[in-house]
Amino acid sequence: MKKLYIQTLGCAMNVRDSEHIIAELGQKEDYQLTQDINEADLIIINTCSVREKPVSKLFSELGSFKLKKKPGAKIGVAGCTASHLGKEIIKRAPYVDFVLGARNVSKITQVVHKKHAVEIDTNYDESTYVFGDYRSNPYKAYINISIGCDKKCTFCIVPVTRGEEISIPSRLIIQEVKKAVESGAKEVTLLGQNVNNYGRRFSAQEEGAKNFTELLQEVSKVKGLERIRFTSPHPLHMDDEFLHEFATNSKICKQIHVPLQSGSTRILKEMKRGYSKEWFLNRCEKIRALVPDVAISTDIIVGFPGESEEDFLETMDVVEKVRFDTIFSFKYSPRPHTPAASYANQVPSEVASKRLQILQERHKQIQLEQMQKQVGKVVKVYFEELKSGGQVAGRADDGRLVYAKGSEELLGKIVDVKVTKAYLTKLEGEVV
Ligand code: 5AD
Ligand code: SF4
Repeated sequence: MKKLYIQTLGCAMNVRDSEHIIAELGQKEDYQLTQDINEADLIIINTCSVREKPVSKLFSELGSFKLKKKPGAKIGVAGCTASHLGKEIIKRAPYVDFVLGARNVSKITQVVHKKHAVEIDTNYDESTYVFGDYRSNPYKAYINISIGCDKKCTFCIVPVTRGEEISIPSRLIIQEVKKAVESGAKEVTLLGQNVNNYGRRFSAQEEGAKNFTELLQEVSKVKGLERIRFTSPHPLHMDDEFLHEFATNSKICKQIHVPLQSGSTRILKEMKRGYSKEWFLNRCEKIRALVPDVAISTDIIVGFPGESEEDFLETMDVVEKVRFDTIFSFKYSPRPHTPAASYANQVPSEVASKRLQILQERHKQIQLEQMQKQVGKVVKVYFEELKSGGQVAGRADDGRLVYAKGSEELLGKIVDVKVTKAYLTKLEGEVV
């Protein structure tokens, strides 16, 4: 058996793509996963290009792979940076054996055999390809429901790297959910760049779910499945029908990611997000009214071109009003092939850094207060990991990390836990 070492950068879609790569190479090419890079016959880095940082990380990692690899071992670059840099990667690092784009994962078993293969076609349709089985977590499964992204957010490189959006037929999604449940998963996370745009385009005429709400209904009928999560939805497509399903379907976990990006309607227009500050606030108010125990997370970019102090204060105003449970916040990073990168009014880096710091410091306080509100509640925790000191850890329905005293027998079980203590990123409790 040959050994495969794989490093994954970026988002949940990349994690799933890596699982697909591991499955294909394991089942069709006789590769076995290793954590030890020195013994690997094939080293793959699955890259992200959403900001400049992970792109520079690629080239520093490649340099270290070259030093560590055993003689004759191959190096492959997959993912979003593979898509947008293509053969440029081999020019800069000639010891790289192949480049496999984020939209071409199913070609992995071909490129491993071709010296300097570059497969990065973003029109390639993988929406009906059935990958081999592999998942890194025995208790949970990631399941793709669409590929690509049709949005044209002016800051974002993803449409360039992952191509146009195509929904995966619901019968294939249900098949994957059933397989996951049969092999022990009680929870699935449905994945896509824009999940609630599901059904916008299929590559073939299909029976079954035609929109995201219908898909959620179908998935929730699978026997033995207890929890459904999804990421990421787009605020624009959060219609009332979807929010009603989210609120009333007991299998859907009460955790939702609502990516704000900016609280200024003017900046949102420049970003081509398609919604206003008011719409965003209205959706979050509605979610909190329908589901009082919900956890809302978001993504925020500071320092988008033209962002004034007033625009930034609008973002802070949304942060105060919604009181997000988690915020992923970023300094704007100009990306190649995106409209905003060539806008004249770029914000100085120090100004953006200062705003990021203000946002993060204020949100830390809110986050701790939101966590402290959990103390005294009884929450359902799906335990999945043994921790030191006789503890086990898992996620509550709303996605919060919970630790409790316990051992192996709690793993894979959904158990009532009384929350006794809150920290910034985790809760402690007692099994009741
Ligand atoms: N600069 C900074 N952050 C970005 N994101 C996407 N593109 C950029 C960029 N050019 C952020 C968005 C998105 C998250 C995945 O990454 O907030 O929701
Ligand atoms: Fe994921 Fe976007 Fe990074 Fe690609 S660029 S890996 S889609 S976060």
